[in-house]
Amino acid sequence: MILSSDFKGRDFISLHDYTKEELTYFLDVADYLKAEQKAGRETPVLAKKTLGMIFQKSSTRTRVSFEVGMYQLGGYPLFLSSNDLQIGRGEPVEDTARVLARFLDGMMIRTFSHDEVLKLAQYADIPVINGLTDLQHPCQVLADLQTIREYKGRLEGLKMAFIGDGNNMAHSLMHGGAKMGMHVVIASPEGYKPDEEMVKEAMEDAKENGGKVEVISDPLEAVQDADVLYTDVWASMGQEEEAAERVRSFAGYQINGKSLQLAKKDAIILHCLPAHRGEEITHEVMEGPQSAIFDEAENRLHAQKAILALLMA
Ligand code: CP
Ligand code: NVA
Repeated sequence: MILSSDFKGRDFISLHDYTKEELTYFLDVADYLKAEQKAGRETPVLAKKTLGMIFQKSSTRTRVSFEVGMYQLGGYPLFLSSNDLQIGRGEPVEDTARVLARFLDGMMIRTFSHDEVLKLAQYADIPVINGLTDLQHPCQVLADLQTIREYKGRLEGLKMAFIGDGNNMAHSLMHGGAKMGMHVVIASPEGYKPDEEMVKEAMEDAKENGGKVEVISDPLEAVQDADVLYTDVWASMGQEEEAAERVRSFAGYQINGKSLQLAKKDAIILHCLPAHRGEEITHEVMEGPQSAIFDEAENRLHAQKAILALLMA
């Protein structure tokens, strides 16, 4: 496969910024890189390139999959903890961006404020990849779409139900699902609905691409005849102090045996991880035959290699 150079230099901050055709191409490249890796063939398309990875929040999957992904593409991953960077002592992001861009070929950032990532991208003239903000988690959803397509053979027309907090995962799933022509239903309690601007963008995406987006309150209605059931933690990183209150607010917003009975017989279960068994998902469902959760986690590696290869090669 000869990789397109059309994406070189672009940022990967929101799935809303990419067309359905472009996202399909990312998924095709992800499948190709996965097959090459499984066959033991090397794909050193990023030889001599360095990716800086700024982490202002914890990570297992994102850090390790980006590091290993860069290594497998022949490049070098540089882990930059905000505890050690001057940004943690107040150096402005505008300055950090311009300095790091002189050394690096690409940057990945995981942080709290989405605006900080936008500012980093504005000031750095190298590709900037969003490794999670409070608002969005697009790399995760690219891997999720790859996983759904592997299991179902298609994305268009499938119903995906997300049960829980209207958080970064809900937002990126709405964007990605709607772009790919899926029917995305978010079921969240009052006070925890997705951001209105994100819903508006996703509705535009759905309209242009034959998808549908709904935001409702009833988790049982949401899972009815769904092809994909998705959930995420009730308290995200940075919301630890609200955890007890959230346990009360989210009672009933759980993927469990009852959800599986209402969904399609061949529905798959996804979770971005880390999971809190007994809260948003039961142990039985996570470990059951319909769980695609660990294939989904593996696809972080393959989907992100596609992003790195297309933006940086
Ligand atoms: N799903 C995900 O992004 O996991 P980490 O927080 O471990 O990176
Ligand atoms: N919503 C979760 C996702 C973790 C991958 C969080 O932001 O903590």
